[in-house]
This record gives sequence, structure tokens and C-alpha cells, in this order.
Amino acid sequence: MRLSTLIVRKLSIDLKQGFARHWFGGDAFRSQLFNATSMTFPQGEQFFIDSVRDALPLIESPELCEQVRGFIGQEATHRHLHAQYNAELERQGLHYVLQRWIAWRIRQSSKVSLASRLAVTAAFEHYTALFAQVTLNGRLGLERADALPRLLWSWHSAEELEHRAVAFDVYRAIGGGALRRVAWFAYVSLLFTIDLTVQTTHNLYRDGQLLRWRTWAGALSYYVGRRGLAWVLVPHVLAYFSPRFHPLRHGDDGLATAWFTQYRDRYSELKA
Ligand SMILES: [Fe+2]
Ligand SMILES: [Fe+2]
Repeated sequence: MRLSTLIVRKLSIDLKQGFARHWFGGDAFRSQLFNATSMTFPQGEQFFIDSVRDALPLIESPELCEQVRGFIGQEATHRHLHAQYNAELERQGLHYVLQRWIAWRIRQSSKVSLASRLAVTAAFEHYTALFAQVTLNGRLGLERADALPRLLWSWHSAEELEHRAVAFDVYRAIGGGALRRVAWFAYVSLLFTIDLTVQTTHNLYRDGQLLRWRTWAGALSYYVGRRGLAWVLVPHVLAYFSPRFHPLRHGDDGLATAWFTQYRDRYSELKA
């Protein structure tokens, strides 16, 4: 278990100036997939925050409590900036169609135990860490993206990589077991895939790109091209089913550290 202090960073970025529709190097599919992901963040990250906050009184380790507070600070900052990003998407005519469905699911989650809510959070955090890894290591081609959204996504990715073990460690600290963890991971994998497919398809429809062959050629290349996501996703998804899984055995801390160093002039530290 690694328990370094998490820093909350305030990014210097003005999202009100807006960005292009196909900000991801002119690629409609990647732009709308990332946009769909961003739309889910304000609700999803609030759920993560609430789950780990509810666990705080049950955690004995002061170091892990400190990590939880850092995690909450980082996710709250992500929510804040992605809400601004999503407001620009609204201005572009893109609507978040999953809002009520996800709100309903979150309300239903009050009927399950804290351990189960933490298992859901840890599952999503595995996906965000995987996504962060391939965003920062160049596999997705984010370097081709416009500067403003690239800054937001790379900052968010660096912090996701940095705090990727917190929800998992909290889950284990309150006595969560492997069976519950992998059962909720299977549930999250299915729901997350459906959610992203529905929202991305809707975004492409609103964008007038849904029925263009270039869009779907882009989707094929994104998932199963030579540097496609599937080839990295599958082994890391399967690894989560191992009873010995731990997030710190997956993902490259150096990518996050390199980003924090390279972009030091683009953020201020709110607390250490
Ligand atoms: Fe986040
Ligand atoms: Fe996170």
C-alpha cells in the first residue's frame, strides 16, 4: 500500500472560451466519446466522493484517512471543471441524455451496503485509471488534440493515476472481500459500456456524424486498430478478477509525475 499525500491542484484554464466540436485532432468519434465520458463525471464523481466520505469513520489508519480527504478534494475539483466543460458541450447542442437514468441508479444505491457502494467506486476507479494510463502514454493520440481540452484531460488523467488505489484501499480497510468486489466490477463493466455507447451515439447524432463511414472507421481504429484500446483493456480488465489484484500493480506512476513536473506552471496547489 502506498500512502503518499495527495495534493489538490487548481488548474489554470478558462473553459468559457470554448473549443472546437472535433477538438480531438479532427476525429469525431474520439471527440464525442470523451465528451460522453465527461458528461457522466459530475454525477459519477459525486457518488465516489460520497462513498469514501461515508467510510471515513470506519477507517483506522490516519494515513488512509488523509488520502481519502485528498481523493475527495481532487474529485471535487474534477467535477467543478468538467461541469464547465459540459456547459460548453450544451452550447454546442449536445445533451446529456443519461442524467435521469444515472440519478435513479444513484438513488437506488442507498439500498445497498457501504461495502457495495465502495466496490462500485473501486471498479469505476480501475476504469478511470486505465483510461488515464492510455491517455497519458500517448496510445490514444491525445497529443493531436487542441490545447485547451488536452490540458483538462491530461490533468484529470494524471490525478486519476495518482489516486487510483484510494477507493480500493478503503474498500479493503472496511473489510470488503474479493467476491463482492468482482461481482460489482462485472456490473459496472456492463453498465459503463452501455452508458458510454448510448451517450456517444447520441452525441454523434446531434453532431451530424452518426451515419458517416469516417466516424465508424475512427471507432474501429480506436478499439481494434494497431494501437487500439482493446489490446490493453482486455488484460487489465481480466486482472481485476484476480483475488491478488491491487491497483498499484497496474499503471505507471511516472506518467503522472512527469505531467505534474512538465505542467507545473499550469496549476496551483490548494493543499498538501
Ligand atoms: Fe476524477
Ligand atoms: Fe478518481
